[in-house]
Amino acid sequence: MSDESRPTPAQTPVAAVIPAAGRGVRLGPGAPKALRALSGTPMLIHAVRALAASRHVSLVIVVAPPDGAAEVKSLLDAHALPERTDFLVVPGGESRQESVRLGLDALPPQYGVVLVHDAARPLVPVETVDAVVEAVRDGAPAVVPALPLADTVKEVEPAAAAGDPEPVVATPERARLRAVQTPQGFDRAALVRAHETVTENVTDDASMVEQLGLTVVAVPGHEEAFKVTRPLDLVLAEAVLARRRLTDGF
Ligand code: CTP
Ligand code: MG
Repeated sequence: MSDESRPTPAQTPVAAVIPAAGRGVRLGPGAPKALRALSGTPMLIHAVRALAASRHVSLVIVVAPPDGAAEVKSLLDAHALPERTDFLVVPGGESRQESVRLGLDALPPQYGVVLVHDAARPLVPVETVDAVVEAVRDGAPAVVPALPLADTVKEVEPAAAAGDPEPVVATPERARLRAVQTPQGFDRAALVRAHETVTENVTDDASMVEQLGLTVVAVPGHEEAFKVTRPLDLVLAEAVLARRRLTDGF
């Protein structure tokens, strides 16, 4: 598609790429993290529903564990999902970055805005998804949902052996720091270029776009968009779901 005929961010349809190919080492032994159940439903299904709940999102691409694409396809078939949303499943890679790139490779040409959302953030509210989409549609090449920090953060000289004391090097001013979540939203061309250009390992997609020198903006994130990383996070996720069942009959 030529640049002239490409729809503007305000008009273009929105797709979501959900990397779900990680093992979940920090969660402990068991099935791949995205396939573990929360309140009886796989974490991945919660995440897919959370993104498909946005009326902006018309396609969800799930990046499955490399040998688990067939299993993920049948999971999607077995769970009720909105009919106005299309779904694709592709196998993932060794790193999150590679998994996201494999998802982008499967993106049909008409989608000009892309959200990238961790399957490990199953409880993100639709309001957060919509806020990210709206900021991209307003012209930002990259948007991250972000929250202020509760803890003071120290930069250290990491010790060679885990558990050894580590010299503190600096204390960034907490009021200027944010913890960033997903979905992160992008102008498709900017994200694709970032994935073609940036080769070093990164922990989020927006930092790759930053490295291109493009502006990344933060919008308010949400406490319930936390990442399920360690066993205690499963307890918190179950508590959030129990509260939702009480308050909205979810
Ligand atoms: N991810 C992926 N492909 C990989 C690694 C991670 O798609 N090779 C996905 C995970 O499935 C998850 C998201 O990236 O939805 C965020 O990663 P993280 O929370 O680190 O999950 P895991 O890598 O699975 O967990 P761990 O680092 O504890 O092994
Ligand atoms: Mg990981």
